[in-house]
Amino acid sequence: MRETTLAPDDLVLPYFVVPGEGVRSPISSMPGIDQVSVDALAGEARELASLGIKAVVVFGIPSSKDALGLESYAEDGVVQQAVRALKDADSELVVVTDVCLCEYTDHGHCGLLDSEGYVLNDETLEILGRIAVSHAEAGTDVVAPSGMLDGMVGAIRGALDSGAHERVAILSYAVKYASAFYGPFREAAEGAPSFGDRRSHQMDPGNAREALLEAALDVEQGADALMVKPALGYLDVVTRVRERFPELPLAAYNVSGEYAMVKVAAANGWLDERAAALEVLTCIRRAGADLVVTYHAKDVARWLQGGAA
Ligand code: PBG
Repeated sequence: MRETTLAPDDLVLPYFVVPGEGVRSPISSMPGIDQVSVDALAGEARELASLGIKAVVVFGIPSSKDALGLESYAEDGVVQQAVRALKDADSELVVVTDVCLCEYTDHGHCGLLDSEGYVLNDETLEILGRIAVSHAEAGTDVVAPSGMLDGMVGAIRGALDSGAHERVAILSYAVKYASAFYGPFREAAEGAPSFGDRRSHQMDPGNAREALLEAALDVEQGADALMVKPALGYLDVVTRVRERFPELPLAAYNVSGEYAMVKVAAANGWLDERAAALEVLTCIRRAGADLVVTYHAKDVARWLQGGAA
C-alpha cells in the first residue's frame, strides 16, 4: 500500500577525487566519506554495480588553484581522469560531473571576479562551456552546472552542441539556496570562499516563488533535468518544481550538512542511523524527487538489499 518507493537506482553517490595515487583520506565532518584518488575508482564502480547504484556525481580537487580556475578544463585534470576511469571500469555507470569554478579558483568563488570581488557572470559562462566540453570529451554522460549563474544552461548547451556533444545531458542545479548546510562539503571539496559568500547568485532560503522562475529559465535554455538543493528544508520547493515541470526528471541534493547531522547524532546514540536515513530519503522521494543525490547511498543500498527498509 506504500505510495513512495526507495530503491538503490533512485540514488546518486557523490565522489571527491584528488590527485595522486593510493589516496583515501577520510573527511572528518562526513564520517564514511573519503577523498579518493583516480586509481580507487575502478574498485568503487564495481562495488556500486554490486549494490545496484547506477549513477555518481564527480567533484574534483585540483592539484593547483589560481584566480582563473585553469585546471577545471584541463584535458588531464582530475575530473577528466576520474570520468575516464569510471567509464572504463563500467560503461553502464551514469557519470555526472559538477561544472563550477569554486573548487578550482584560489579565491573559492564560482566564477571570475571583478576588481571589487563580484562574480563576473557573463565572462564566466564561456569558461563553464569549456569545462563542460572537456568533461564530455572525457566521456561524461551528464554535466551538472552548480554555480547558479544566469544563462549557464544555455551557454553550456551551446558549447556542447558546437563541440558535437549533443548527447551529453544537462542536469541543472536550477534551484540552489545559499545554505549553511554546505559546510562539510567545503571541507571535502576544499572550496570555501576565501572572503564573502555566495548570496549574490545562490537563492535566499526565504524564497520559493523565485525557485519556479529559476527553474523556468533553465528549462527554457534546454535543461534535461532539474535539481533542488538542499533537500530537507526545501521539500515544499521540490514539490512545487515537480508540479510545475512534470515532464522533467527532478533530483534533490541531500547535502553534506544534512548527512553530517544524521551521522553525528547516530554516533552519539541519539538517532537510529538506519531508520533516520531511510526516513529522510523516503520523504525526499515523497516530496517529488525522482533522484536523490546522497552520501548515504551505499549504506542505504546495503540496507535495502538486506531486505529491511
Ligand atoms: C559547488 C557545490 C557545492 C555543493 C555542491 N556543489 C558547494 C557550494 O555551493 O558552496 C554542496 C554539496 C553538499 O553540501 O553536499 N560546486
